[in-house]
Amino acid sequence: MSDTSLPDDSEPAFPSAAIEALLAPAVGRLAPNTSLSPLPYDLNAGVPDRATLPASGLLEAMRRALDEDAAGALTYGGQQGYEPLRAWIAARESQEGGLDVTSAQVTLTSGSAHGIDNIAATFIGEGDVVVVGAPTYPGAIRTFRARGATIIESPQDDDGLIPSALARVLDTRRMTGRQAKLLYVQPNYDNPSGATLPVERRQAVVDLARQHGVLIVEDDAYTGIDLDGPPPPSLFAIARGRGVMRVGTFSKTVATGLRVGWITSQPEVVQRLVFMRFDNGASPLLHRLVHEYVKSGEYEPHVERLRDLYRARRDASADALREFCEPYVTFRTPRGGFFHWLRLGSGLDARAVQIAAAEEGVAVTPGTGYFATPDSAALNGADRVRLVFSALPPEDLREAIARFGRALERVAAGGKSEGSR
Ligand SMILES: Cc1ncc(COP(=O)(O)O)c(C=O)c1O
Repeated sequence: MSDTSLPDDSEPAFPSAAIEALLAPAVGRLAPNTSLSPLPYDLNAGVPDRATLPASGLLEAMRRALDEDAAGALTYGGQQGYEPLRAWIAARESQEGGLDVTSAQVTLTSGSAHGIDNIAATFIGEGDVVVVGAPTYPGAIRTFRARGATIIESPQDDDGLIPSALARVLDTRRMTGRQAKLLYVQPNYDNPSGATLPVERRQAVVDLARQHGVLIVEDDAYTGIDLDGPPPPSLFAIARGRGVMRVGTFSKTVATGLRVGWITSQPEVVQRLVFMRFDNGASPLLHRLVHEYVKSGEYEPHVERLRDLYRARRDASADALREFCEPYVTFRTPRGGFFHWLRLGSGLDARAVQIAAAEEGVAVTPGTGYFATPDSAALNGADRVRLVFSALPPEDLREAIARFGRALERVAAGGKSEGSR
């Protein structure tokens, strides 16, 4: 073929091996993304109930947003996001935490997942250390890894991060000369463990992070889904707004499809987070829509209804677990959020249980996916299963858990499932 001739069609350009060779090194380090299950009973995806999505309230809010300022809603809105919505978030933060937070301390992101990525992009380079709980949210592990982070785990018990263990982890980092930069924590209704960090531990975590010069990433994805009253003060409030990036979202209290989240922090941090973006901000249309919705007075009663609904589901699922799944599982009932974190008894293996449950039409997640290192996953995740109680109505939840109980029985009766034989 001469230099000027067209390429030969029998040899496809960019075959998959060529694409593979061009990928960023981080791609090979990442676990696959999770997706919705095709099984009839999905106890896997931590999503809100579809019937609760406030479509008509949002439609009205959208109309008002466009009526009021169509040009503002439909043109680039700037990296930090729509100021009145930031002011609303700042006012709530001030009221909740007894602080004086301003809209300059809030930046709007495309969901909290993007908030975590914005933080990772701003603070993490290849080999920088991020400390996370063991277990923790796989999306956070993935996001930090994609930016080159080395993830170090700190154990959690039923109450969340254990301060004495965290102190050891941070001391070890200091001794190795590779001090951690970020500590990722979900103090309320942790995904997956459901744990809520008690106030003394919150204070200890804030003190330790401060002593070691580590910034805290406080992921509050489930805050608001308070099923037994409000949680203790946030790490951001305890730290008087210094050294903490508090990440919030409207995903769990309104709709995941909005993709509206935020980060609240001290002004110097927010300026850097905003500096690292080059996308002209998240959608000004959606910011105005959400602002119209929250200021209409519909938001609070909506969240109150969600709390009632999810409380009923949590309690119904806890009853069904006791009825159908004892003695094979034990669990601590969570104070909020969407998850039961089950401990399997009798030497049951989470992966075998997942396969047997799938044969009964029920999707659950084995605990191993919630640990950053294979050793701790094998050690601590193989006897755990995360079960979502938010997405199905109580009757379906009961049926799903009855089927899950049959799967447990089958695995216990000989470690057998159709798929693992
Ligand atoms: C702990 C935690 N953080 C963050 C997110 C991301 O939520 P979003 O990007 O929809 O705000 C999730 C979603 O499931 C989550 O469970």
